[in-house]
Amino acid sequence: MNHTHMASAEIRSGMGWLGFEDRLCVITGAAGGIGAEIASQLVEVGARVALLDRNEEALSKVAADLGGSASRVLVVHCDVTDPPSIEAAAARVHAAWGPAAVLVNNAASLYADALMDIKLESWNQLLAINLTGYLLCAQAFGRQMIAQRSGCMVHVASIAATVPQPYSGAYSVSKAGVKMLSQLLAVELGEHGVRSNVVSPAMIRTPMSEGIYEDSDVLRYREQIVPARRISTPADIAGAVLFLASERASYISGQEVLVDGGLAQAWLNLIPRPGFRKQDLAAATL
Ligand SMILES: NC(=O)c1ccc[n+]([C@@H]2O[C@H](COP(=O)([O-])OP(=O)(O)OC[C@H]3O[C@@H](n4cnc5c(N)ncnc54)[C@H](O)[C@@H]3O)[C@@H](O)[C@H]2O)c1
Repeated sequence: MNHTHMASAEIRSGMGWLGFEDRLCVITGAAGGIGAEIASQLVEVGARVALLDRNEEALSKVAADLGGSASRVLVVHCDVTDPPSIEAAAARVHAAWGPAAVLVNNAASLYADALMDIKLESWNQLLAINLTGYLLCAQAFGRQMIAQRSGCMVHVASIAATVPQPYSGAYSVSKAGVKMLSQLLAVELGEHGVRSNVVSPAMIRTPMSEGIYEDSDVLRYREQIVPARRISTPADIAGAVLFLASERASYISGQEVLVDGGLAQAWLNLIPRPGFRKQDLAAATL
């Protein structure tokens, strides 16, 4: 019986709604805002987590915060732009705990730049982290999944994968690439029992974006344009990642889940339309 069928039976027998008990989940960029929250939620539902990041100091702090669960947390220093570093991380995880059941590709970077000015070196560097890094991790941990004929990948992309985010260098291009990479993995690895999906956040407060929210006018404006009227938290994103990585999503592959509080549906609401605004309706009589 492969893991998928076994897990469905275990969920029904009370192992937990998501079925993560003892499953080995690898998270890249685990020292960051979203990665750390994904790790924390996975540990809460009984998973074992391998935390990969290039920032060793921050990684150790995240592991310490997971505290009492130390026996289910493995800290692995890894630079996702460096193939030998990824291979060493995959070998270390396998030697410690066996093959990975889940890979969350999440490590990424962002900086401001205009396309007309961007230096080739900066372009290549961002793609190396945000896109090639996702491929290399999918290869290294995907091989373990193929060998056990079961596994699943969740790739954190962004709303910027679909809507151009100007003056952000290669960021939108890298995230659009992640979407297609995930769709391709879903098709090529499906016959091996491996699923691949994307979670795309919109506006979240994390160390990556915190500078933006230092201006309270920016914060207020951003909150107003989202139908949910709030900026998301890492917990909002982690919830979607856990669902897609769980056996509850066992027949979902090649999909993208936007976690955006409704923002992507709201743009017509942002165009002034006298007579059709909420305040106009209050005055209207039928
Ligand atoms: N914060 C947002 O507003 C936002 C919005 C949309 C999408 N996202 C996406 O969410 C994901 C997580 O972002 P976050 O907000 O938690 O960012 P973050 O900056 O808090 O964390 C990113 C982590 O990735 C790690 N990292 C960067 N380069 C690496 C490398 N070469 N090797 C290994 N680790 C590396 C960093 O050390 C950091 O710990 C990213 O994919 C990001 O693009 C974030």
